[in-house]
Amino acid sequence: MAQNDIGIDLGTTSIIVALEGKGVVLNQPSVVAVDHRKDQVLAVGDEALAMVGRTPNYIAAVRPLKDGVISNHMLTKELICRFVNKVYDSHLIKPRVAVCVPAAITGIESDAVVEAVVAAGARQVFLIDEPIAAAIGSGIDVREPSGHMVVDIGGGTTDIAVISMGGKVRATSVNVAGNTFDDEIVKLLRLKFSVAIGLRTAEELKKEIACCRPGTFADSMEVKGRSLLTGLPQRLTVTTEDLYEAVMPLAEQIAAAAHQVLEKTPPELAGDIYTDGVMLTGGGAMLKGLDEYLAQQLKVRVRVAPDPINCVALGTARCLVIGEELESGFQDATPRLGRR
Ligand SMILES: Nc1ncnc2c1ncn2[C@@H]1O[C@H](COP(=O)(O)OP(=O)(O)OP(=O)(O)O)[C@@H](O)[C@H]1O
Ligand SMILES: [Mg+2]
Repeated sequence: MAQNDIGIDLGTTSIIVALEGKGVVLNQPSVVAVDHRKDQVLAVGDEALAMVGRTPNYIAAVRPLKDGVISNHMLTKELICRFVNKVYDSHLIKPRVAVCVPAAITGIESDAVVEAVVAAGARQVFLIDEPIAAAIGSGIDVREPSGHMVVDIGGGTTDIAVISMGGKVRATSVNVAGNTFDDEIVKLLRLKFSVAIGLRTAEELKKEIACCRPGTFADSMEVKGRSLLTGLPQRLTVTTEDLYEAVMPLAEQIAAAAHQVLEKTPPELAGDIYTDGVMLTGGGAMLKGLDEYLAQQLKVRVRVAPDPINCVALGTARCLVIGEELESGFQDATPRLGRR
């Protein structure tokens, strides 16, 4: 593999770039700051995120990849171009770039991604399915004639797939993922305590004290918000127990979606999954107790991948080496450019 081959996980929450053999070289939020007066991109990634809530109203911090789809093509292109240029320092040999695209992406959206990657200097572009990349990045040899189940819980979507012999056998994608947990925590605190908190605070509560296995973990955290009764700032102590009402229905929805995939899985492969267990990847896999809850619901062993957030990017970079051996989920998208 050439040293300048690049794997990109184009995620709703963050864009992660990995190089085979070197690991992750860039991890930045998928946020763009735009000046609406001039229609100009001011900053991307960390720099753009730092501007959120601190800018005059003609500057907006936008997430161009929302809920697993590309809601703004121009800004997505700008994000990709700037990030690829950051990691690709040799201008002598153009890199081959593999991009992991959300499962629900349309042809037009993926064309926009391919165009952006080529504009950023790639000589060849490959598109990879997220569950295949997640499986490879978590250490599974997807080429084996044996069934593996992967549940990738990202920010915008949870992708569930059964993979065997380098291809997806059964798969589904649901819009319940990390961001949904944050939204539900915000709603719960409004209803239960009449306190409004921001999404960042909700995310902190989720990461620090939320748990999906009642009785196995207990903690509390003080947050600052605004009272809906007085309109004034208020401090509030939230406990793990308070949050069950918000997180458990969502954990149930993820379990139900995985259950449906298992139901449709051919018996031989279901047997393999019974022996091998289910692999959880994506940032949402780190929610406390979610692995145990899913194991209890699906009656199989559930493991969290060693580096869940980086699995997709690492698997995408790896695809540039083993892609030829995959049945599906890996395609050379460079010829598409010739159509335009
Ligand atoms: N320790 C943690 N506990 C719970 N959730 C976490 C933790 N760390 C990160 N997350 C959540 O993981 C989500 C981001 O995961 P990830 O980076 O896999 O998403 P993504 O790939 O950008 O999204 P998608 O795959 O949907 O496009 C966020 O909702 C974040 O809050
Ligand atoms: Mg992802």
